[in-house]
Amino acid sequence: MQQGYGAAAVSDADLTLTRTGLLRPVRRIEILAHFSGAFDVAEQQPRGHAARVAYLAHEVARRLGFGAEERRRVIAVGLLHDSGVAVRHDGGHLVAGAWVAERFGFDGAVSDGILATHERWDGRGRPDGRLGAAIPVEGLLVSAAHWACEFADGAMSPLRARSELHHSSIADIEPLAGPEVAAALRSALHDDETWLTMWNEDLARLVGLAGLSEGRPSQRRLVEAAEAMGEVVDAAVREPGRAARVAALSRQIALSMGLPEPYAEAIGIAGHLLELGQIGVSRHITDKPSILSVDEMEIMRSHPTVSSWLIERAPGLTEVAEWVVAHHERRDGRGYPEMLSSDELPMPPRILAVADAYYALRADRPHRPAYDEDDTLTMIGLGAGSQFDARVVEVLPAALEALTRPTGDDATGDDATGGKGSDAVS
Ligand SMILES: [Fe+2]
Ligand SMILES: [Fe+2]
Repeated sequence: MQQGYGAAAVSDADLTLTRTGLLRPVRRIEILAHFSGAFDVAEQQPRGHAARVAYLAHEVARRLGFGAEERRRVIAVGLLHDSGVAVRHDGGHLVAGAWVAERFGFDGAVSDGILATHERWDGRGRPDGRLGAAIPVEGLLVSAAHWACEFADGAMSPLRARSELHHSSIADIEPLAGPEVAAALRSALHDDETWLTMWNEDLARLVGLAGLSEGRPSQRRLVEAAEAMGEVVDAAVREPGRAARVAALSRQIALSMGLPEPYAEAIGIAGHLLELGQIGVSRHITDKPSILSVDEMEIMRSHPTVSSWLIERAPGLTEVAEWVVAHHERRDGRGYPEMLSSDELPMPPRILAVADAYYALRADRPHRPAYDEDDTLTMIGLGAGSQFDARVVEVLPAALEALTRPTGDDATGDDATGGKGSDAVS
């Protein structure tokens, strides 16, 4: 609690502390299985693509007698196989995918597996044209599973794909992944359970269960995964560090308002994930220096909904998803996507809106340079009571100061330079 801004200023109704388990301990694979929907959006693949590839590759690994650790690695490579698509990287999407794996804290074997997902058993793959057993097996498994999933996605329905694949010898797979992997894939695809699971609505959770032996679940894992996902989105929209800054400021505002620590932690998680939905927005729109067309504006304005949809089923993030979807709503009911009225808008999205706006104004945009600190605070102050919650605006300077205090455990600085994103005050 800072500068006399007491807990009494925030009522229980603001907090909507009616539900249990704001954040719950998770395993990394479990949370990544849900977040992988963002990579599908970026890759323009059908919903559940990465999770399906991961699940099928895991089923093949199981049939090949892989141990628990190897199978977890296969799942990670499957979930992350095209995670680099959204990230602009000189080395291409595989190198970018290896970087994403590193961000999520996986070891080098997962990165090597991702780098090998376009190699072929017959040596005609890329980038290295490696041959047979010289290719990391995780890459071969994911490549084989990917082939089957794309075949299925291209068919009229999973049922149709299943019967067509049954009649196929899967001969195409041998030169791609070798005879053993091809045989195990054939076996997996003859199993009704595999097919049912691959199109199960709850697939991400089931993939998470397959990675169960990853050690004890912890809240730290959730924070790390949210941080990593925020970094990936920042890389996609070319605004490094944005998500972490918004998360730190949101958390600090919550603390400065006297909200309970677990609540502030949850708001920080939401801060990392606010712009997840921007991963699917074309760079031509996010980078456009002139005014957006109506259609482009619609697409841009869909990002809170997409962000929320991508995380709402993740363990313990249902409430966080409800805050994320509302981070562009306004106190005066003129926000988006729902034009919520002020009594429908809980405190967390009001906090997130101010933190998001602060760093949006402090950053360069294609159509204007960054505002300095004073101008930013003045502009946000002008929106107090209409765009923003006046209590949050009031506490903002104290929260910024607390962030820069060297002894504070959240001293991340309040600089914001260069980048793109949503504009704050319109
Ligand atoms: Fe893919
Ligand atoms: Fe946003």
